[in-house]
Amino acid sequence: MRAWRFHETGDIRNLRLEEVPEPVPGPGEALVRVQYAALNPADRYLVQGQYPRAGAPPFTPGRDGAGHILRAAQGGRFKEGHAVCLLGGLTGISTPGTFADCAAIPEEWLAPVPDGWSLEEAAAGPLTLLTAWRALVVRGGLQAGETVLVTGASGGVGSAAVLLCGALGARVVALSRSAEKRAALTALGADIVVDAAADNVEALVKEALGKERIGLVVENLGGPWLNRAARLATPGGRVMVVGLLAGLDAELTVGLLIHKNLRVEGLSVSAYVPAEAAEAWREIVRLLDQKGTRPLVDSVFSPDQPQDAFAHLAEGPLGKVLVAFD
Ligand SMILES: NC(=O)c1ccc[n+]([C@@H]2O[C@H](COP(=O)([O-])OP(=O)(O)OC[C@H]3O[C@@H](n4cnc5c(N)ncnc54)[C@H](OP(=O)(O)O)[C@@H]3O)[C@@H](O)[C@H]2O)c1
Repeated sequence: MRAWRFHETGDIRNLRLEEVPEPVPGPGEALVRVQYAALNPADRYLVQGQYPRAGAPPFTPGRDGAGHILRAAQGGRFKEGHAVCLLGGLTGISTPGTFADCAAIPEEWLAPVPDGWSLEEAAAGPLTLLTAWRALVVRGGLQAGETVLVTGASGGVGSAAVLLCGALGARVVALSRSAEKRAALTALGADIVVDAAADNVEALVKEALGKERIGLVVENLGGPWLNRAARLATPGGRVMVVGLLAGLDAELTVGLLIHKNLRVEGLSVSAYVPAEAAEAWREIVRLLDQKGTRPLVDSVFSPDQPQDAFAHLAEGPLGKVLVAFD
């Protein structure tokens, strides 16, 4: 079968399309014919050797995917031919991932493709929606009517947060460096959009807010953005630290945290256990269905384009970048 695989950590260009043996599912695992897999920045960190608990090369990454059951797990709830998507676990971290024609996946981490959703949408949704859900609901304690600031709002996690805020009745301030993507974020439901590349981005956000205050921040960027988020949050606000695309390190003004009684909290989608992820996913799907929205698919690449797909992800997509192994 075909798979994206790297033999040495380092450059993302080490990831290549290869012929590899089909995986043999272990106990409790189903063999899934992957039709669409979604890229995440974490896949690049893993190829670069910067991801904890990563499998040793040669290794196939890929943490999001949807397809059909080829071989069911013994005594499991899915049968051959069922359409499924992956909700999490160690697939693509320490066991071979979804950038392949087939993947052996623990059944407990699979969910049925939601009714009416395409396989593309089911591959695009889980990791980013479950991350945004953790930031907004599980850890962030979002209240209806609150205002949420989303940095890196056009990306996978950002667009998922914008969608979920709309479904949860929260207001959204979405930041993006691109005018085109700011327009798309407005169409997606963002109440206020601000140019993240502006020198006076904080002043622009404050001006657009007027008397409105930011209770919760979904912070996807790190670097200088963490302190900006702390400065923009209202006293008693929560800053959920999700990503680090603009820098692994950040300086925080300690006085801000103290005087504003801020809660700054890191979170990982890997903290879900299977039952918790399945329950969160059901609630996410219910809310999005009620609102008539779906995960955003930015683009679909072919299996012979791993470098193009990751280069496009690095440019900043609008939603999710997929690869079609179909
Ligand atoms: N904690 C967790 O469990 C968890 C889970 C998933 C992802 N993450 C992390 O969260 C971060 C975001 O992930 P994602 O999937 O949303 O990424 P993504 O799809 O690549 O999108 C991120 C967006 O951020 C903006 N951006 C990228 N680099 C930037 C920079 N240097 N400065 C300012 N803006 C920048 C871009 O938007 P514009 O071009 O529109 O400005 C881009 O579309 C990543 O670091 C990822 O590893 C963490």
